[in-house]
Amino acid sequence: MSKLVNRQIVLAARPEGEPKPSDFRLIESEAPQPREGEVLLRTLWLSLDPYMRGRMSAAKSYAKPVEVGETMVGGTVCEVVTSRDPSLAAGDSVAAYAGWQDFAVAAAKGLRKLDPTQAPVSTALGVLGMPGMTAYAGLLTIGRPQPGETVVVAAAAGPVGATVGQIARIKGCRAVGIAGGADKCRYVRDELGFDAAIDHRAADLAERLRAACPGGIDVYFENVGGAVWSAVLPLLNDFARVPVCGLVSHYNDTALPPGPDRMAQLMRAVLTRRLTLRGFIVRDFADQAASFERDMGAWVREGRIKYREDVVDGLESAPQAFIGLLKGRNFGKLLVRVRRQDS
Ligand SMILES: NC(=O)c1ccc[n+]([C@@H]2O[C@H](COP(=O)([O-])OP(=O)(O)OC[C@H]3O[C@@H](n4cnc5c(N)ncnc54)[C@H](OP(=O)(O)O)[C@@H]3O)[C@@H](O)[C@H]2O)c1
Repeated sequence: MSKLVNRQIVLAARPEGEPKPSDFRLIESEAPQPREGEVLLRTLWLSLDPYMRGRMSAAKSYAKPVEVGETMVGGTVCEVVTSRDPSLAAGDSVAAYAGWQDFAVAAAKGLRKLDPTQAPVSTALGVLGMPGMTAYAGLLTIGRPQPGETVVVAAAAGPVGATVGQIARIKGCRAVGIAGGADKCRYVRDELGFDAAIDHRAADLAERLRAACPGGIDVYFENVGGAVWSAVLPLLNDFARVPVCGLVSHYNDTALPPGPDRMAQLMRAVLTRRLTLRGFIVRDFADQAASFERDMGAWVREGRIKYREDVVDGLESAPQAFIGLLKGRNFGKLLVRVRRQDS
């Protein structure tokens, strides 16, 4: 077999604030060779996710940063090109963590084989993968939604928020979504079946949210922080639960937001209204993988949970698409189609 050329997107510089195309570089190298127990993978789909902004920073976090010059990390769906392990064969599709590149070698035992007859393989990066699991475990374990309660979530047209609101509806709650722009709000309300959707870009966000939540908020699934959190906090009921999942409005911040220190006000609200705020990382709930696959698989098959994918073509499109993700340019789960399966 002639040598395979591996295109890789590496981190060229640590972004200051919003990432720029020049913070990334496309390089080419020879594809690696698998050893015993390993497989050579070719990337079909690359997932772009907000957490990647954290990996570009050297600040201490829950995961190791990508070093300058290293290939960007990321969840992928790949095709096995060559297998040196009996559990996988050439042509199999697997969920992997191959990063922003065409080819990678991985240990076969760390890979999840996908059945394309059950669901499109790309869903392993969205509703049936990490974002879906984040919504499921964070909402049910920390949010503990009860029938009749009001659940609010922002980034509601994205893979985590859309799934949170739809699970809330399945659990008998009133779901209120917050999203950027009229089209996303229409989708959240009319196609996903949320009870209400509010545009966070509207000047009167706090007033509209109050009107959409006449009985207050029992669960706020925190995806964004910033102005949305400020509008939500006064509306939280006694004993409200706040799974703190993400703070995407702050990911490009280079300093604390200006204004008075509101920490005392926040702590007073936590105390007097007996709020529960709990941060989590999806892998904290790895032991729920089987129940997630069972429940979410059934809900998606039955059409009770809908999803939307936003597909960009070509590995070289990844940096620009990622930059847009942090500004809400995506509409649905953002995926890069690195290679068509039939090509
Ligand atoms: N804790 C974990 O383990 C875990 C795992 C997965 C994801 N997450 C977090 O979950 C959140 C959602 O992830 P996702 O993959 O579903 O992302 P996503 O919805 O596909 O993309 C992020 C969305 O955030 C919204 N956004 C950006 N800036 C905003 C702002 N200033 N105010 C309000 N909304 C803003 C945009 O939607 P609009 O156009 O609607 O504003 C954008 O499309 C992120 O914070 C992510 O980091 C956490």
